[in-house]
Amino acid sequence: MEFGYNLRMRKLLLILLILGLLSPTMVFAQKFKNLAMTPPMGWNSWNRFGPKINEKLIEEIADAMVSTGMRDAGYRYIVIDDGWQIGRDKNGNIIVNPKKFPHGIKALADYVHFRGLKFGIYSDAGRKTCQGLPGSRGYEYQDARTYAKWGVDYLKYDWCSHGKQNSEASYKLMRDALYKAGRPIVFSICEWGITKPWLWAKDIGNLWRTTDDIQDCWDCVNEWGGMGWTLILDRQVGLEKYSGPGHWNDPDMLEVGNGGMTTGEYKAHFSMWCMLAAPLMAGNDIRNMSDDIRNILINKEVIAIDQDPLGKQGVKITDIGDYEIWVKELQGKELAVALLNRGLTPIDAVIHWKTILRRFKLENNNYKLRDLWEKKFVGATNKVFRVKIPSHSVILLRLVKTKNTD
Ligand code: GLA
Repeated sequence: MEFGYNLRMRKLLLILLILGLLSPTMVFAQKFKNLAMTPPMGWNSWNRFGPKINEKLIEEIADAMVSTGMRDAGYRYIVIDDGWQIGRDKNGNIIVNPKKFPHGIKALADYVHFRGLKFGIYSDAGRKTCQGLPGSRGYEYQDARTYAKWGVDYLKYDWCSHGKQNSEASYKLMRDALYKAGRPIVFSICEWGITKPWLWAKDIGNLWRTTDDIQDCWDCVNEWGGMGWTLILDRQVGLEKYSGPGHWNDPDMLEVGNGGMTTGEYKAHFSMWCMLAAPLMAGNDIRNMSDDIRNILINKEVIAIDQDPLGKQGVKITDIGDYEIWVKELQGKELAVALLNRGLTPIDAVIHWKTILRRFKLENNNYKLRDLWEKKFVGATNKVFRVKIPSHSVILLRLVKTKNTD
């Protein structure tokens, strides 16, 4: 009796094993490895152009990525957001809007690749995108094959018209489809934080939106729940532990240079996105930007905070009204420290480094203080640091190690 049972169990196991080896869901149930090991950097059409996109614009943006020095500063992905699709043919293949993209997406991807850049596209897990265009629901494997054929390197996957769909299952389905299509594609989950993707998306995507859409303002809120960057910043507190190489919290794309804020405010926005180890997707018209804006976007020392290989999201350690101190751990026992003034009057800040260093178990080290916007050394951690933080701005420091007595 027992012998017969064992035999049956073994047979069952064997069948399960064979089925497992053959079943695409089990074989392909993973995301691509070693993608987005630092937060993805690039440009996305949405914040500045909305659905008003076309081939010429994207080509000019690709050219500008090179000529402005953005590519050399680390920006790679050119992503076309909502508005490129128009329907499906009788075989279910997605049709590209021929008026906007007369040469098709493959030719555009080639154009982008030829300039040493990578190419990204947008779709939606529901039946329709947020612009009411065809989404990928029911066509996941077919669309993934199409993207791979076109040479797509990045997919932003939205959450409009999802009806009663389960978010985790919907994003897993596209992850599996992308994997099966065989071309490594960074998978950007755009579910707006509704079902807390940080709890389930680590093995599904490379980044996930944590909130509703960013607006080009300091702290405004719009009727659809969109908000200024400081309000998005507040919602990142507590999510630090979910972010890391290959899987990032995404507080949404940059608004730097879109006209709604001052240079100082954009510097603060950019600084804090770097402190968060946020994906840095520029969202402005990089063909026509002022030197001030360009110098924000390509400040290499600031970008290095975002791109630090340790991949740690910064944490808020002090919050006194309008005055906040954020700290981001960097490789080699260094730190980035942001002193943020959210208010309308200047703040006289006094920093006693011992307390901060002790908190990160670095009290045996000495550091020089590098001001990353002024691009100069402004002191050392063995002295009290005093600085005036102007209204709506940030002092961004890197603690550069000078001596290690560990
Ligand atoms: C949603 C997303 C945005 C953008 C639009 C496109 O609102 O959150 O980032 O992709 O859809 O319609």
